[in-house]
Amino acid sequence: MNKDLEEKVREAIRNPRNMGELKDADAVGTVGNSDCGEMLRMWVKYREEKGRKVIDQATFQSFGCETAIAVASMATEMIRGKTADEALALKTEDLSGELGPLPPMKIHCAELVEGAMRSALDGPGDATAPASPSPSKEAAPTGAGNLIESLNAGNAPSGGLKIVMLDDDSPDKSD
Ligand code: FES
Repeated sequence: MNKDLEEKVREAIRNPRNMGELKDADAVGTVGNSDCGEMLRMWVKYREEKGRKVIDQATFQSFGCETAIAVASMATEMIRGKTADEALALKTEDLSGELGPLPPMKIHCAELVEGAMRSALDGPGDATAPASPSPSKEAAPTGAGNLIESLNAGNAPSGGLKIVMLDDDSPDKSD
């Protein structure tokens, strides 16, 4: 990871936006990357605005790497005020926002965020889906324990729990 990106990621995770469970969420999506063992969950709450159903708030919890946290922080801000369709139209590279283009080895971190967002925006998941988180190889951020405990307990938040394991063939998951 180049120095500029490293500094932007560090800056973003110094004060991550929208981190934590959204208690009264309308939908939730959870995605895991079986290759690197990272997981990310996103909650979404909608509101009506001029006859449109737009995203009022989106939050996330991550048992993932710093890049995934930085992208999730930006993406949850970015999709505010958008309809689900507008948010779904965003591409992986859009979600990394001010971080700019990610190096090939970090693209799957943004894909993890995109996957959780798509999973949440596609509607409530299957509350009976089995939860089988993989351990992370990187330090868990604040709040990550809640996600893992929740997953281990099979504790589905309102809207149901859907875990999607992303297929990933990125060759290098190290920083
Ligand atoms: Fe796998 Fe970032 S999500 S290293």
